[in-house]
Amino acid sequence: MRLDVFTLFPDAFTWFSQQPHVARARELGVALNLWDYRVHTPLRHGQVDDAPYGGGAGMVLRIDVICAALEGVFGGDAVDVRLARRVVELTPRGRQLDDALATELATGDLCVLCGRYEGIDERVAQLVTDRVSIGPYVLSGGEIAAQALLDAVVRKIDGAVSNPESVAADSFSPGLGGACEYPHYTRPAEFRGWPVPAVLLSGDHAAVERWRRERLGSGEPPPHQD
Ligand code: ADE
Repeated sequence: MRLDVFTLFPDAFTWFSQQPHVARARELGVALNLWDYRVHTPLRHGQVDDAPYGGGAGMVLRIDVICAALEGVFGGDAVDVRLARRVVELTPRGRQLDDALATELATGDLCVLCGRYEGIDERVAQLVTDRVSIGPYVLSGGEIAAQALLDAVVRKIDGAVSNPESVAADSFSPGLGGACEYPHYTRPAEFRGWPVPAVLLSGDHAAVERWRRERLGSGEPPPHQD
């Protein structure tokens, strides 16, 4: 499997690519490639963007730059890149990322296009299979969104997370019926008068299971236990 990320800021992915689950995925043969649009730009002085037609604020990443980057990395025609892999543009106008989409994207090679400034020229639609948003708010660029998406995708790769049970029981996974995970506690059993629910200290596994099941799907703070 290969993950190809196109960005103006490859350094933004340094911390992410060193995370244990990402490092483990790489040991398992997953290639994480970071490509800088500027390296492939056909324009002079590393130009990658231009003013929007029709006027308005900000700059737009040029479609010829995107095509040149895809062709420089994959060879052939940029429109054919999506025949062999999912090609995802990160954009606030895309389909909202969820667990099902992360699972889908983890099944094969994946190419991710990060926008910056006002985004990528709309004709990028000719090149992508998916347009994905990580939520209804605007970030300054696609890099943080790409890392959120890639993190969720890498967690789905068999063996990437050392304890598979933790992925199977992740919030929103089919293992939890799409619900949020139950709340977790650890030592100390009491802190500042904030107790851990007594049932978790009881050693009664059936009661613990019941308590956890009852709390699936709740993002609310748990009620204080007496
Ligand atoms: N780029 C800027 N904002 C974004 C968002 N919310 N999701 C994905 N890409 C983005």
